[in-house]
Amino acid sequence: MATFDNTHVKGWGGPWTEQKLDCFTRYVKAYLTIMNAYREKYHWKLIYFDGFAGCGDRKIQEEAVDNTIQIFGEEKVDAMDINLYQGAAERVVRLEQEMAGFDFYYFIDKYEENLTRLELKLAGYNTKGRKIFRASDANIETRNLAQAMKKDAVTPVSDSHPYHLKTLCLLDPFGMSIDWETIEQLAGKSLDLWILVPTGSIISRLIKNDGTLMYPETLERYFGLPQEQIEGRFYTKTYETDLFGEESERVIKTKNVIAEIANLYCEQLGTLFPYVTNEPLVLYNRNNVPIFHFVCASFNKTAVKMAQEIIDKL
Ligand SMILES: C[S@@+](CC[C@H](N)C(=O)[O-])C[C@H]1O[C@@H](n2cnc3c(N)ncnc32)[C@H](O)[C@@H]1O
Repeated sequence: MATFDNTHVKGWGGPWTEQKLDCFTRYVKAYLTIMNAYREKYHWKLIYFDGFAGCGDRKIQEEAVDNTIQIFGEEKVDAMDINLYQGAAERVVRLEQEMAGFDFYYFIDKYEENLTRLELKLAGYNTKGRKIFRASDANIETRNLAQAMKKDAVTPVSDSHPYHLKTLCLLDPFGMSIDWETIEQLAGKSLDLWILVPTGSIISRLIKNDGTLMYPETLERYFGLPQEQIEGRFYTKTYETDLFGEESERVIKTKNVIAEIANLYCEQLGTLFPYVTNEPLVLYNRNNVPIFHFVCASFNKTAVKMAQEIIDKL
């Protein structure tokens, strides 16, 4: 397995972060509007699950950066950005000021210190829903969530009606921290997933021009596909014979690698979820290079339709 050590990063994100958060907040609002209309009738309990919750601002500690981003460059932010910044957690919790929110909020981050800071920041928001902060690995906690959702139709002590769990899950790591095996656990659940795929910031750089992959095991773990299949997706091999009858191999790399990475990940999601956004949100860096694709997958057709409409309007 590839190891990408953390190095010093003072700030992160840029206009693309804002666009991602704007898209996601619009979705959460639309999601809650629909869920609120039916939650009583169908005995739903709504869970918000944020696997990479962060500390609530952009000035993160150097050890808080998950694997790869610092290897391939980072986006700097200025002090103004840092002060004005509201992460996904704050934006979601804040929605309770205008509408009924989630019954449970799960905030996961690998670093205890991040969660302490986040908890402090969110303490200013009085929510009806219970906020749970858990310092742990997102892969472990996402699998725990999937386990909990298996026990759907739990009967609460004070109520004779069983309730059904509905989850909105955000996984927005910097890097390739989420294993495909983790995503597989979410299949078949009443769950909407938004996931950030580091298509241009990291993955495209692992697909080298010479027809070989850098860190093939990391790519296998990320896509849930064997190395040969990943290679087959990005390289075409042709064989040429010269005048003396010598055969040589020629490798041609797929033209639009970044878009192809997004297609491959979406196709993989499509094997687990019946609905996936056809055109994910493409996030560009300041040089207009696509660095991330933000994808929505769900068991529910309306959810993805709604997500696609939001993306298309941005
Ligand atoms: C992109 S930031 C999160 C941004 C946040 N969602 C927001 O809206 O402000 C990524 C966070 O993931 C945390 N992290 C990195 N690897 C992790 C892992 N394997 N499990 C859980 N958290 C992790 C880092 O500590 C960092 O705070």
